[in-house]
Amino acid sequence: MKNCKKYSKQFFAPSGVTMDWVKKESIEKPPIWCSVDLRDGNQALIIPMSLEEKLEFFKLLCKVGFKEIEIGFPAASETEYEFCRKLIEENLIPDDVTIQVLTQSREHIIAKTFEAIDGAKHAVVHLYNSTSVAQREQVFKKSKKEIIEIAKFGAELCNKYKAKAKGKITFEYSPESFTGTEPEFAAEICNEVISIWQPTPDNKVIINLPVTVSHSMPHVYANQVEYMCKNLKNRESLIISLHPHNDRGCAVADSEMGLLAGGDRIEGTLFGNGERTGNVDIITLALNMYSQGIDPQLDFSNLPEITEVYEKVTRMHVYERQPYSGQLVFAAFSGSHQDAIAKGMRYRQDRERVWDVPYLPIDPTDVGRVYEADVIRINSQSGKGGIGYILETQFNHILPPKMREAFGYHIKSISDHEHRELQPKEVYDIFVRDFVNIDTPVSVEKAVFSKIEEGRMAECEIKYGDKITMLTTQGNGRLDAVSNAIKQATGVDYQLENYTQHALEGKTTSEAASYVSISANGKTYYGTGIDSDIITSSIKALLSAVNIMLTK
Ligand code: KIV
Ligand code: ZN
Repeated sequence: MKNCKKYSKQFFAPSGVTMDWVKKESIEKPPIWCSVDLRDGNQALIIPMSLEEKLEFFKLLCKVGFKEIEIGFPAASETEYEFCRKLIEENLIPDDVTIQVLTQSREHIIAKTFEAIDGAKHAVVHLYNSTSVAQREQVFKKSKKEIIEIAKFGAELCNKYKAKAKGKITFEYSPESFTGTEPEFAAEICNEVISIWQPTPDNKVIINLPVTVSHSMPHVYANQVEYMCKNLKNRESLIISLHPHNDRGCAVADSEMGLLAGGDRIEGTLFGNGERTGNVDIITLALNMYSQGIDPQLDFSNLPEITEVYEKVTRMHVYERQPYSGQLVFAAFSGSHQDAIAKGMRYRQDRERVWDVPYLPIDPTDVGRVYEADVIRINSQSGKGGIGYILETQFNHILPPKMREAFGYHIKSISDHEHRELQPKEVYDIFVRDFVNIDTPVSVEKAVFSKIEEGRMAECEIKYGDKITMLTTQGNGRLDAVSNAIKQATGVDYQLENYTQHALEGKTTSEAASYVSISANGKTYYGTGIDSDIITSSIKALLSAVNIMLTK
């Protein structure tokens, strides 16, 4: 790193704040949400959305439940203007949704903005000008007084155009670059605008406090919000709106602390799209609230669908580890995580309890994710729990614990060797290929049983390589009798250790799965047999184990 001394604080920590918000533990009700996807999000895209794409996104935002949507900067481009007109003229704005439009404090832009919203039942006109020290000195080269004049000029023009407008108009003012502005000056300029707009509790004005660029830790922003709430006139006639960008990766924290400190409204975007590092991700904010038992009043129950539309129209990609929506955010690869999750899921079965499954902050199915496919992921880090869980829940094979463990190691080593994740179907195919109905070099061509006092007698035809042996053996049961025949015909010795079986649920034809373990020379071998006949399935399982032993 070259020289950190060239940087210093660009924010102004307000004085006189009591920081009572620190004592609050959580947000108790959802804020008013305003999506700025179609404006702040759109202006930051490599290829801005076409009119059709904006329309598709607008419909998605309405479906999610946004009641306030900043649809653009109509005076900025033809597409922006056309989009606004299309929504109004084709009656595409639901009655309970208010569109918001952004304007600079210049007469022809304000005029064009009011022209664009002509005919809208309700619109928010959002006026902004930049107030920070850096912008005043370097960009506008204007004094504080002159910057206030810009805001007052725009506010007065807004009044003038509002007087002629047919629909309901709400005003919003943003001291852009608020976080780089001295708090006293930010309050002063907002108060000037408030004096011109004369809000009342029934006709509120929105004062938006943007983190245009993030300069400080979140608690400083929260203190700035607290300061504004205490120093603005007519607080009861104001809606305090927060608009955090994510330069320091703190947009969510800024928003949450800002809400604790008095904010009423959040402007943000889906997945945090927006200038540079983006705006605050409303999905994260809303689901953070949801995970604490607060209904955010936005519907993210189908995040995969929302992601798909978003990626299509914006040409952006949702990062794999984006909170709640990323492809990997519910995935557990690690064996111990998979094990804890599987146990946690089983623990809550038939129990009324709040969601507290280890490693899963929310139930993935609440946001349209599939537990089996999204959570239990198989790679070389996975454990027997997860691998066994996949075989059981997706392919109906309930392996005995020791075999589950052995199969887990088998799968992990394949994944490690191939250096890749394995899909559930691949796990199953490996299971079938390497453990089920293995019938070379030994097979049982025929087995006829009869009952005897000691158990069972078996007349068997055993094939070992090319050699066929006919023999009659005894055992304490059918499997034991066949096992003895195999031992005699092949000359190999082993101990028949464990045998379990179950019906293969979910199959149209009724089949049984049997699992057998045998041991020889201190090693254990496992085999599985599947057959419509339960005895045959057990013989096939034994043969699988013997053949695995012989070919190892
Ligand atoms: O980030 C910002 O300051 C803005 C303003 C126009 C509100 O987007
Ligand atoms: Zn912004």
